[in-house]
Amino acid sequence: MDNKEDLFAHKSKSWDMNSKRVQNAKGIAELIVKNIKLDKSMELMDFGAGTGLLSYFIAPYVKKIVAVDNSPSMLGEFKAKCNEFVCETEIIEKDLSIETLDRKFDGIISSMTIHHLEDIIALFTKLYDMLEKGGFIAIADLDTEDGSFHSDNTGVHHHGFDREALQLIAEEVGFKDVKFDLASTIEKPHRTFTVFLLTAVK
Ligand SMILES: C[S@@+](CC[C@H](N)C(=O)[O-])C[C@H]1O[C@@H](n2cnc3c(N)ncnc32)[C@H](O)[C@@H]1O
Repeated sequence: MDNKEDLFAHKSKSWDMNSKRVQNAKGIAELIVKNIKLDKSMELMDFGAGTGLLSYFIAPYVKKIVAVDNSPSMLGEFKAKCNEFVCETEIIEKDLSIETLDRKFDGIISSMTIHHLEDIIALFTKLYDMLEKGGFIAIADLDTEDGSFHSDNTGVHHHGFDREALQLIAEEVGFKDVKFDLASTIEKPHRTFTVFLLTAVK
């Protein structure tokens, strides 16, 4: 365990009280269910699971979700509502920017997390290695934005992503069938932001 600062410590308690966040996670989950054939034998990782907003909506379709996150406070909120998830759950506190997991999953889902990791090639390589052959990734994050999405950009390494550049990285790492869809839009008083869902298979 390292002693890096928990950047979400002051947000974790109220994270689920933001209805836009819940709607965003629900929209992403609905698109994942539409685009990927999930089944009750599957074990998925939710990377950057946080309090479990995405996991909650995916839980009815799979056997188990392993929540991986480096924030003890966010994982504390996930743990507190474990009983509400209708699949098995497991929590692993890990920073995937510096560590990896010696485990394989049928799929890896993620919402609004990858902009927090600087090296996307290194991340995608790790995700690829943690997948069974034929396994999938379903990763949602912001399309390129002007830096105004977060009121405080501490810990934000990317102001959204250019879809073509991300596709090239995914393909370089070895992913096939890389596709993008619009997962949701987030309205803020000053502008609207769009969220993509990237899906690909190993
Ligand atoms: C914006 S929150 C999204 C949480 C959740 N997926 C959701 O949609 O509500 C980003 C999450 O990614 C986690 N995270 C950021 N960098 C990470 C890293 N290097 N390794 C693991 N988790 C990380 C944070 O702790 C946080 O819980």
